[in-house]
Amino acid sequence: MKIIVTGGAGYIGSHTVVELVASGYEPIVLDNFSNTDVRNINGINKITAKNIKFYNIDCTDSNAVKSVFEKEKDILGLIHFAAFKSVEESVRLPEKYFKNNIGSLEVILDHMQNNNVNNIIFSSSCTVYGSPEKLPVTENSPFKRAESPYGETKQKCEDILNRSSLKSVSLRYFNPIGSHSSGLIGDFSSDKPANLVPIICEVASGKREKLIVNGNDYNTVDGSCVRDYIHVVDLAKSHIAALNYLLKNKKKDVFNVGTGKGLSVLETIKVFESANNMKLNYSIGPRRDGDIDEIYSDNQKVISELKWQAKISTESAMIDAWNWELNKIK
Ligand SMILES: NC(=O)c1ccc[n+]([C@@H]2O[C@H](COP(=O)([O-])OP(=O)(O)OC[C@H]3O[C@@H](n4cnc5c(N)ncnc54)[C@H](O)[C@@H]3O)[C@@H](O)[C@H]2O)c1
Repeated sequence: MKIIVTGGAGYIGSHTVVELVASGYEPIVLDNFSNTDVRNINGINKITAKNIKFYNIDCTDSNAVKSVFEKEKDILGLIHFAAFKSVEESVRLPEKYFKNNIGSLEVILDHMQNNNVNNIIFSSSCTVYGSPEKLPVTENSPFKRAESPYGETKQKCEDILNRSSLKSVSLRYFNPIGSHSSGLIGDFSSDKPANLVPIICEVASGKREKLIVNGNDYNTVDGSCVRDYIHVVDLAKSHIAALNYLLKNKKKDVFNVGTGKGLSVLETIKVFESANNMKLNYSIGPRRDGDIDEIYSDNQKVISELKWQAKISTESAMIDAWNWELNKIK
């Protein structure tokens, strides 16, 4: 039951590798460690009490990927996480994102086809919806003009998969937060955090002086932006549900993976403060370019067809996020 996991040493990938092992699969990680740390592999090994096989290779390097497919026989499927993920950097360096995010998928698909590996799960994102007209967003909500080159790469990759002969499931993630409760694996991104919960953790740890809430005049419950935050362990489990579904069904599909509920920035700050019993230093600042008012998922399709639903509370996610911050800086 071998499953190749590209980007399996990263944030979502490492949590998914743990869940694959727990479900009896044999994950094989391909990662070039461009945006993570080998400590995630050590963490996976500790949590699972296994020695996970990993190849330090770049997925845009066709010869390197070819050699993995030559060595590893009887591969059931592949989960493709390997990509760059900074929206802000993608605006400055679009070519870097097109080359890595689209290029790696093209190389992977080539070798899957050459080796009769027919099942692929792709890490897509709610960014494909741009700024939606109607909430919650369903899988049928139209793609709007992407807000960034990063979002464009996700739209393009979904399009490539639609036209490919392989069976595929694209999972459109909403906003992953938290970490494994052991504190042994997590997000080692080299980018300066741009997402709310990692920024909150930096303020809590004193790494950052203050949290600026970007705008309190949006058309939302309290004027701050609203997002759908999902615990990364729940998100990781959705990949197992998608894999089981893909192995049984002969089709392509796409699912929103979120909790179905929106939480505002100000509400999120309050949940973090009460879950971790601390006060955060924050103030209201100007809006940030490119932020949309509100987005959250319609998750009916994923619940009914993949039989998956998010279970972990936002309070637990905040405790796990803080625990990771403390472990990461040790
Ligand atoms: N974290 C989020 O908020 C979020 C939201 C929606 C979608 N996604 C998507 O989910 C996937 C995983 O995201 P993440 O948060 O775990 O990011 P991450 O940066 O922690 O993980 C990506 C991993 O891929 C590796 N990688 C990148 N390019 C590679 C290449 N060419 N060859 C081999 N390895 C390569 C990196 O070293 C890293 O370990 C990405 O495709 C991302 O776009 C993430």
